[in-house]
This record gives sequence, C-alpha cells and structure tokens, in this order.
Amino acid sequence: MYFGADYYPEHWPENRWPVDAALMKKLNFNVVRLAEFAWVKMEPDEGAYDFAWLDKAIETLAEHGIDVVLCTPTASPPNWLIAKHRDILPRDSKGIVKESGSRRHYCPSNGTYHDYTRRIVRAMAEHYKDNKSVIAWQVDNEFGCHDTARCYCDNCAKAFRAWLKEKYGTLERLNEVWGTIFWGQTFTDWKEVPLPWYNPSGHSPGLKLDFCRFASESYARYQKIQVDILREVMPGTPITHNLMPQFLEIDYFDLARDLDFVSWDSCPGFGASPCSPAIGHDICRGLKRDRPYWVMEHEVVPVHWRPVNSLLRPGIVRLWTYQSIAHGAEGILYFRWRWCLFGHENLHDGVLPQDGQPGRAYREVLELAEELQRVMPHIESSSAEAAVALLMDYDIVWALGDHPDPTNRISYWDVLFRYYEALFRIGVQIDVVHPRADLSRYKLVVAPMLYIVDEKVSRNLHSYVEEGGFLIATFFSGIADRNGNVIDKPFPGPLSDLFGITVPEYDPVPESFDNSIVVEGSTLRASEYPIDIWCDLIELKGGKPVAAYSKDFYAGTPAITINAFGKGTAVYVGTMGKDSLEKDLIRWAAESAGIRLEFAPIDGVEVRPRYAKDSVYYFVMNHNAEAVDIAVPREMIDLISHKSVQRSTTIPSYGVAILKAPR
Ligand code: GLA
Ligand code: ZN
Repeated sequence: MYFGADYYPEHWPENRWPVDAALMKKLNFNVVRLAEFAWVKMEPDEGAYDFAWLDKAIETLAEHGIDVVLCTPTASPPNWLIAKHRDILPRDSKGIVKESGSRRHYCPSNGTYHDYTRRIVRAMAEHYKDNKSVIAWQVDNEFGCHDTARCYCDNCAKAFRAWLKEKYGTLERLNEVWGTIFWGQTFTDWKEVPLPWYNPSGHSPGLKLDFCRFASESYARYQKIQVDILREVMPGTPITHNLMPQFLEIDYFDLARDLDFVSWDSCPGFGASPCSPAIGHDICRGLKRDRPYWVMEHEVVPVHWRPVNSLLRPGIVRLWTYQSIAHGAEGILYFRWRWCLFGHENLHDGVLPQDGQPGRAYREVLELAEELQRVMPHIESSSAEAAVALLMDYDIVWALGDHPDPTNRISYWDVLFRYYEALFRIGVQIDVVHPRADLSRYKLVVAPMLYIVDEKVSRNLHSYVEEGGFLIATFFSGIADRNGNVIDKPFPGPLSDLFGITVPEYDPVPESFDNSIVVEGSTLRASEYPIDIWCDLIELKGGKPVAAYSKDFYAGTPAITINAFGKGTAVYVGTMGKDSLEKDLIRWAAESAGIRLEFAPIDGVEVRPRYAKDSVYYFVMNHNAEAVDIAVPREMIDLISHKSVQRSTTIPSYGVAILKAPR
C-alpha cells in the first residue's frame, strides 16, 4: 500500500524539510506528491530551469525512505509566461477573460501553451528519468476545477470548427444532424458556427452536446501531449491524473484511457453522506477495472472552501481511510501535509497545523498507521470485485444539462445517485461503468435514466440479459440517439423488446402530486409505495406488470414491469419512489440475481467485501455518530480486534470492523 501526503517543500525553508521527512517516516509514509504548482520555481525565467531545490527535497525524503509522485506543473502557468502570451488565458461564455492570479488560467487548446507545456514536461522528465525516488507522475492538477472545463475563446472556436469538420465532413451534414433549420439557424459557412456563447435562448441541443464533447476531448488531448513525453522519456513509470468524479464536465472514461492508473481527490467534509465518497471510489474503480486506483488527495482535516468547515470528529479519518481501502484504493495521500501560512489556502488545515507541531490529526494518523501495519498484510492480496454495475454516460449528463426538459425537479445525477444509495445499502461492491462496457462479469446491472441509447448500447444490454443478466432501467430511457435527437419510435426505442413494453406517454408531476403504486403479488416488501417526480404510462408488449398506479386517469396502468429475455430478466421502473421504493427494488433485484447478501441493511452502516482466493473480508463501517449492533450471519474473525465474532458485534461510532470469513 502507498501511504503518504501531498507536500509542498517550496512553502518552507530548506532546514525544515528533514524535520518534515522524519515526522512523515514516523507515520510509515512511503510516498509524497510534489510540485504540481511549482512551475515558476522550476523555471523562474523562460528556458532557465532550476531543479536544484526539488532535487534536494526529493533527496531529503529519500533519506527517510519516502518516494515521490512528481507532478507536471501545468495547472499554474507562471506570470512571466502569461505576460508574454495573454492569448493563453481562457474566456467564459460571455467572452470575459479569466485572468491570472490563481491557477487553471489557461486554454487547453492553445497551441502556444502546448509548446510551453511540452518544454517544461520534457525538461522535468529528462532531469528525473534516472531518479529512483520518482515512482509515478501526475499530469497537471484537477482538470476542470474552478469551472474551467469549458473555454469559450476564439482559439477554441477555431478548434471546435476543425473538430466538427473532422466529425461531419460537410456543413450540410452538420446542419442536418443538429437540425439547424429549427428557428432558421442553418449555417452557410463554417465560420458562422459559434461556441455556445451567451445568447437570448441558449443554443441547439446538438451544438451544446458536441461542444461538451469537444471541450472534454480538448483536456484528453492536452493530457496526451504530456503523457506521450513522459512515456517516451521515462517508459515504465506509471502516469495518473487526479480526478474529481463528482464533477461531470470531463468524460473520465475517455480521460482515463491514456492513464496507467486512476487517482482522485476525496474531500467529503464532516457530515456528508457516506455515499458521497463511496460513489467517487466506485466511479474511479470502474474507470480501470483491472488496475487499483489511488486517492491522491484524501481529506484528513477540514478544508477551507466549504460554506462551513467543521472539524472532523475523532475517528473520521480512520473511517474514511478504511472506506478507501475497502473500495479498493491502493494509495492514500492526505491533503495536505502542513497548514500553509500564506496564499489562497491560508486557512486550510493540514496533517500538521500551522505551528508545525503534531496535533490531533497527526496523532490519529499515527495510531492508524500502526494499526494498518498489522492489518494490511492480511488484506493486500484481496481485491474489491464488484457484483453490480451502475451505468453512467457523460453524453447523457451533457444532453440533459442540469435537468431534463420535461421537469426541473430532478437531474440525471439525482436519479443515478438515488439508485446508488439503494445499492450502497446492500453491501456489495459497485462499479460505475459506461453502458458500452463489458457487463458479463456482473450479476446485476442498473441503468438509471438511460436517455441516450445507441445501437452499441442496445446490443450490449440485449446480450447481457440474453446471457442471463439481470437489468434494471428507469423512466426516460431510450429517448434519444447519440446525436441527442429524439428517436422516431415508441419509447424506450431500441429497448422496447428487451423490456417487453412501450411508453406512449410520460407524466412529470408537480410537488402537489399525490399518487402511489400498488404492487402485484409479493415481489416487494410493501404492497404500496408513494411516488413522485415522474410517471411513465406503460403499455405491455410481452412484459408483465410488477406494480400499477393507484390514482389519476392512469390508475391501473403498469408503473413497473418485468420481462424474461433470453436467459435473463429486464425490469423497467417507470416512476420514482417518495421514500423506500428504490431500496426495496434493489434488494429484491439483488436477491433475484443471486447475489449473496450476508448483512441486513442499517442506516449509515456500510459493508464492503474484498475477496481473496478462499476468504472474504467484510469491511463494516459505521458512519453514524452512535454505536450500532450488527447481526453477523456466521462465525467471522475481526482482523482489528483479533476476536472471533458470532451472531452479533457492536461497532462504535465512526468505528470499523474487518470481518474475515471463508469465501
Ligand atoms: C483540491 C486541489 C488542491 C487544494 C484542495 C483544497 O483538491 O487539488 O490543490 O486546492 O482542493 O482542499
Ligand atoms: Zn480556449
């Protein structure tokens, strides 16, 4: 396991570095991340490189057995560079320049910036290629942070047009696909094609979707410029970028393809739902299913940028660290090593507080480090195999924007998250994957609001179910094609035969709405569930009803259906529950899909299995402020207390048990 912190030696005098390194060593740290904002210190003047200070810092760390993830510093172009080339600065959709003075003030499509990037990245790689302490690279820092995923400068407009030419070939084709005749917006020259600049009523869905793709790809391309150089000069040294999975503006499936391993920055904040870091882990694990990910910035103390930055209660860092391990992280670096006294984050705490003396955070990490030394050898050979996949598609995020047109009461992410919360409770590993991913390894696949379904997705889902899979999809699925244009078939379009239904009408409902569904037979735990947000009016075409609406002009119309398809099962959920519907549905589906659920769900208690050849290790994590008793289905050994556990055990508030049992 890689264990460490994000360190900024450039913020401190050199004589402090050995003190820091010695304090890190006591925590069993074996890695730190360095230099992501230190461009100006490495190249104080154009072409004049100074790596001496960084060499010294790396050497000091190495003397204490600490390796380094070295970052390319391109998130922070130096002031001398911007003064020479102001066209590097990005613009917003109103054309306003985003000035320097902080970070991320560059346009990812700017050729001049690409050249400077190549030079600094090559200079770093050449300088460090034989340095054994450098065990990995991080490219840049958090692409898209501070609302910078999309640049609207003239240079981007040109690049966008070139991208469109490549994609569509002719302007006629572009006009046709975007449907520009609508409101008479047909283009007669490529030069007329705008970015989605500020205008009276927004731009066409086709243009917006393509711009989101272009902007996302421009970061993937920019990243590739750096990756290619690092690979060429230092082949074999793995490369990552620190993602922010809850930000939805860059297609991480695409971005992760060029990386050797995925990492992400987790800062849930005290009081956050445990699902919030959990889904971040599961998105990152899903990006590269055969390679463990890291948490490159792991919250260890309060940040400074939330409206309210409460203290992390004792035990929380331990809990979150185990949560990361439980989900499959193989690297954990706490952000940040020490509170920095100046700059934009001068009220952001660290493992060491402002005075540099170990305080509570340090002591908690120290205790944890000692515990991990005992526990990790047992679990390092295990992995977090997922039984369930949750499908997510960035094109849908972008096509629907903040919410789908028919209702502003919900977003794609809200529906996805609702199902994630339900899955979270059943205590299995969940991979968040693209609808085109190979699904054959999963017993259950959940596809919330699959608005866009293209041929490949349709084929993928058909063959998954045909081969015996269990699929759940929800309302507002199979509505549009990959271009974002509505399909001219009964909804859910190419998925109709799979679910054995059509949806002739859908009804997004207001807050005052009062309706419920009545369940046929005893499929679900309750016989009636209050519903909200949305009602699909389903017509059966071979599928069977599971539940029907109780009121309104569509009383008796199916709301949830089930269909046997090939060797598998396809369930369609045409509505959203007010409270427990999704939870009960998911539990029933998981059981029907043959997933072994050993622990009964308890609010705020997270169970995650990691599997070794003959054993399963259940991480049981209590995110509640009170202790809870959990029922243990068979005899297990708690790896932390070394005690045998039978029938039940008590997990203290923010406590963790790792229960080992035969697989
Ligand atoms: C992000 C950034 C860091 C820092 C932290 C503050 O994760 O990557 O540089 O700004 O937030 O919490
Ligand atoms: Zn730009």
